Amino acid sequence: MIKSINDTITLNNGVKMPQHGFGVYLITDEEKGYQSINKALEVGYRAFDTAQFYENEALLGKILDESSVKRSELFITTKVANYNQGYDSTLSTVEQSLKDLRVDQLDLLLVHWPSKRRFFETWKAMEKLYSEKLVRAIGVSNYEIHHLEELAENSNIKPVINQVECHPYLTQAKIKDYVDKNDIAFEAWSPLGRGAVLKDPIIRIIAEHHNKSIAQIIIRWHLQKGNVVIPKSNTPSRIEENASVYDFELTEEEVKIIDALNKDQRTGDNPDDLWFQM
Ligand SMILES: NC(=O)c1ccc[n+]([C@@H]2O[C@H](COP(=O)([O-])OP(=O)(O)OC[C@H]3O[C@@H](n4cnc5c(N)ncnc54)[C@H](OP(=O)(O)O)[C@@H]3O)[C@@H](O)[C@H]2O)c1
Repeated sequence: MIKSINDTITLNNGVKMPQHGFGVYLITDEEKGYQSINKALEVGYRAFDTAQFYENEALLGKILDESSVKRSELFITTKVANYNQGYDSTLSTVEQSLKDLRVDQLDLLLVHWPSKRRFFETWKAMEKLYSEKLVRAIGVSNYEIHHLEELAENSNIKPVINQVECHPYLTQAKIKDYVDKNDIAFEAWSPLGRGAVLKDPIIRIIAEHHNKSIAQIIIRWHLQKGNVVIPKSNTPSRIEENASVYDFELTEEEVKIIDALNKDQRTGDNPDDLWFQM
């Protein structure tokens, strides 16, 4: 059972990754960025999830570089944007991501969304970046089971992780089961459903019972299920709240009650709708 924000999971290539990280989507304002990312470091976060698409790699890189936390203690993830997919553009834009993030090597690089047209080209470039040690691990995001199967049949390196939308209203049980069986880690984006789940009356009862907030209960639910979780907040008090989930435990029954809230309700795009468009 996870005991602290510093606990890690071991990816299928042996790299260790914090199970509880900080998402930085929409954190683009410099002043607020300093406030939020420094607060995240202060309360113990060491893993940061960005993307080329978020247009904040340079801001994140600058703030982390200026902080007193050593590079070796940090775990930085970025993602190849849809508009940068393809062999050459993946290689050249990841080179830029490394510069913007002020690092020699990324901890984890993901394909942001599966693209039917550039599926293997992008992955081949990711394999090259991995073999050249410019990235410590490569993975995917928003892959449905059929995308993972197609990749498995035609690639040399298995992804270490699949980052998909997941929260109590979209539990992704089938994908979770598939990745568990195939030694691929499961990472939840929009773990709080971008706020959609934060008024749920059943989770509220569980929260009152533990004297915790609904957000804390949801983060704890992810952690106890073994999900890598990356809540985002641009509000210092919430950043602290979201990190303070290590002084209580949900019972197995409470985990199951939250599992049962699933209604396959997305807050973001369905990957199969974008698959043929890109
Ligand atoms: N791979 C992908 O395609 C993909 C897609 C989306 C997101 N992501 C990643 O996943 C991360 C998290 O997802 P997300 O940002 O979409 O959604 P989220 O973490 O589920 O929710 C963030 C929202 O919840 C609010 N919030 C956070 N903590 C709260 C609390 N304790 N109480 C009340 N409200 C709270 C935040 O408000 P304030 O900020 O105003 O505090 C923000 O509006 C992103 O930052 C990104 O790194 C990946």
